Amino acid sequence: MSKTLIDGIVGTRPNMMKMAPLCKAIEQDGSFELRLIHTGQHYDENMSDVFLRQLGLPAPAANFMVGSGSHAAQTAKIMTAYEQLLQNGPKPKGTIVVGDVTSTMACSLTAVKMGIPIAHVEAGLRSFDREMPEEINRIVTDSISDILFVTDPDGVINLAREGHAAEKIKFVGNVMIDTLMASMPLIKGIDVAELAGVEAGKYAYVSLHRPSNVDNPETLRSIISLLGELSDELPIVFAIHPRTRQRLDDFAITVPQKPGLKFTAPFGYHENMAVIRSARMVLSDSGGIQEESSVLGVPCLTLRFNTERPCTVEYGSSELVGNDTEKIREAWGRVMAGNWKKSSSIPLWDGNASQRIIDFLKRVWK
Ligand code: UD1
Repeated sequence: MSKTLIDGIVGTRPNMMKMAPLCKAIEQDGSFELRLIHTGQHYDENMSDVFLRQLGLPAPAANFMVGSGSHAAQTAKIMTAYEQLLQNGPKPKGTIVVGDVTSTMACSLTAVKMGIPIAHVEAGLRSFDREMPEEINRIVTDSISDILFVTDPDGVINLAREGHAAEKIKFVGNVMIDTLMASMPLIKGIDVAELAGVEAGKYAYVSLHRPSNVDNPETLRSIISLLGELSDELPIVFAIHPRTRQRLDDFAITVPQKPGLKFTAPFGYHENMAVIRSARMVLSDSGGIQEESSVLGVPCLTLRFNTERPCTVEYGSSELVGNDTEKIREAWGRVMAGNWKKSSSIPLWDGNASQRIIDFLKRVWK
């Protein structure tokens, strides 16, 4: 029986962790031929290539190389490039998009206008904060998707409230956690002392890149200065996102010269998970890290005022701390005192979400 062509879209670092287990499930199943498309929204070796390699993704059939730019510029470039590819090449039976980045929304808009159905993996997440570019991307993508694969029980409620038909909504679990579980043997084999010069259990891990934390000079300056102070109590490993590095330069923020405050380039996937797994605590504004820390049982101070992933607060190890330095210091103190909640397991985050997705797609797209 011939294989049915479907497209899968990646653009940024977190997309790759979500697409990788889907690629594997598609390959094992054998019903579909996946055309992997990279928009090139992320393009650095350590924001893109290392993830493609480590996660065993196939070489993309196309890379649009859109690079950095305003959201409108990125959206326009991605839409134009994907439209051309769809016009010139064979039309897929459907397009799989993951997450909430600009590439997700731009390819969804293009596909739907060309009459191609969309399956959105990680649908239904809502922070109810329209200042986040990702919230707009989520709302737009969900509203034009044909199949809504949901990770979090709250996602089902959000989609139903917005009037999406129940038959379009499928609660399948979390593909990012499929990747984490499948990668555990490799992650456990990494020595954090060798990698980052820290002792397991005796450091904090920091990752920040959201506009709400890094695009305002006062906010970024106050967080960096706080980290300098906190690093006197416990060493800090700060894996610095290129956006944050850029803002430190733009705002001429000098980072405190402290022996305990270690800035590093972004880690590869396995290395990053190893550093998080062995950390005493995590301070982050990333969506994925709230989920990964929860599954790994590492206290996660989420430097945001809201989350589209409430189950990481309800069941997991995350707490919304915001970006006020006193609140961060107070939460840090509670972890240091051993006074932090424990995570419990999250429904269907069992490593099998991708299989559920492909089993369903076989019924509707074959
Ligand atoms: C994007 C996503 C965000 C996701 C994050 C993960 C959107 C709206 N945002 O944010 O949801 O959590 O990726 O990393 O899609 N840069 C480089 N090299 C790269 C990529 C980016 O230097 O490979 C720098 C550039 O200065 C660029 C800036 O980072 O302007 C921001 O990149 P961009 O892709 O626009 O958004 P992110 O902040 O990475």
